[in-house]
Amino acid sequence: MKREQFSSSLGFVLAAAGSAVGIGNLVAFPVMASKNGGAAFLIMYAIFVFFICLPVMLAEMSLGRHTRQSPLGAYTEIGQNPAWRAVGWMSVITPFMIGVFYLVITVWIFGYLAKSVMGQLEFLASPGSFGEFINSNELFVYMAVVIGLTFLILQGGVKRGIEKAARVLMPLLFLMLMALVIYVLTLDNAMLGVEFFLIPDFDKLTGKVLNGALAQAFFSLSLAMGILITYGSYIQKSNNIIQAGKMVAGLSLLVAAGSGLLILPAVFSFNPDVQLSELSESSISMIFTFLPKIFLALQANIGYLGASFVASFFFLLVFFAALTSLVSIIEVPVASLMDGKGMRRRTALLSLGSAMIVLAVICALSFGRVEIFTELTSYGLDAEGQPLVKSFFDLVYDIFYETILPLNGFLLCLFVIYRWRKHNFDAEISQGNDSFAGSFLQKYVNFSLGTFIPVILAVIFVNTVSTIFF
Ligand code: PHE
Repeated sequence: MKREQFSSSLGFVLAAAGSAVGIGNLVAFPVMASKNGGAAFLIMYAIFVFFICLPVMLAEMSLGRHTRQSPLGAYTEIGQNPAWRAVGWMSVITPFMIGVFYLVITVWIFGYLAKSVMGQLEFLASPGSFGEFINSNELFVYMAVVIGLTFLILQGGVKRGIEKAARVLMPLLFLMLMALVIYVLTLDNAMLGVEFFLIPDFDKLTGKVLNGALAQAFFSLSLAMGILITYGSYIQKSNNIIQAGKMVAGLSLLVAAGSGLLILPAVFSFNPDVQLSELSESSISMIFTFLPKIFLALQANIGYLGASFVASFFFLLVFFAALTSLVSIIEVPVASLMDGKGMRRRTALLSLGSAMIVLAVICALSFGRVEIFTELTSYGLDAEGQPLVKSFFDLVYDIFYETILPLNGFLLCLFVIYRWRKHNFDAEISQGNDSFAGSFLQKYVNFSLGTFIPVILAVIFVNTVSTIFF
């Protein structure tokens, strides 16, 4: 069967940007930036995106386009030994498992969208509502809708599913983000938030912060999950990979910065004296407990309908971003089953879908509803002598996102440069870009991927393993 392709370079760029732009850009980035030096963090993040992540991105795209296979096939074909095949497997299992935990968060977002549309801001802003919501039966209704939508898009295939969804959702997402930024900037005290975001504080950039920034940039660009290998395998030979890669990286960065200009001014207009410590612990608490309070407060200015509208608009924006990321991550195992086992798309989707539903339900039940999933492992005692436990959800996050992602990235760099080899990699990039051969960029990409990028990724890997597991 002939492999499907994106209809043009733009089709790929939108689909890949759809994958890259997600909860990470819209929520995790502003939270991290606000706590870690504002514009100083943004500058470092941008440097990481272009000087470390972009070469990895180009490597993945070229590997996919060259082999015309998903990661399992690509590693098997070029690697020619069981060890590389095992890395190929890891590049299929990782997106599958990250997909499970990302699916659960997407379901929460969809639930908050539904509740905002139904005008339940008061509930969303009340203490304890998030815990109540994620343990409600209602959640499974939202889960069914999100899974249904995701599979509907994937069933359409590359051009009529993934690309078409991205062509509709991504422009909408950019417009919605712009509209919200403009609106928020008109609120009282919004400028305090802009200042807070844009005044750099370089003292905050410790090694730990930089480590976190790079890990975030990596995740946010959907690297080391096999996604860009898979999407790369649908790129036409005549398309310019470098230009496309730069655009995806640039769009993702733009959305992250735009979201900083949305979230922080909103926080400051809600409470001009906000203390850093109040700026929420994590992105999850920011989006699900802090922001609903802001929406509720808006009610005093623009009424119940107005506030519900703004909240719905915001959650719809985040939902679009999450949905296109979810689609991309599930496409990896789907394409692997199609390539490796010759399955039809529908059969691949149905078998993966069922496994995914089981795991997602376990994840959803691991927030207190079912004890063994909630307390899957225990690792010592806290200051009060209570056992510290990790749930199924925490474990999936720790193992696959925190640990295997940098490891996969490290192996990918070695694979492309030392196994597939530079000249083959360069030849693939040069198709569609005559000026690459002999350019400074070529030298930089080859050198960095063969030297300091894998070293940095190995350091992140060792750091995480030592903090999480020991
Ligand atoms: N890029 C996504 C984000 O920023 C992360 C992601 C990508 C998650 C692909 C799942 C799949 O949220």
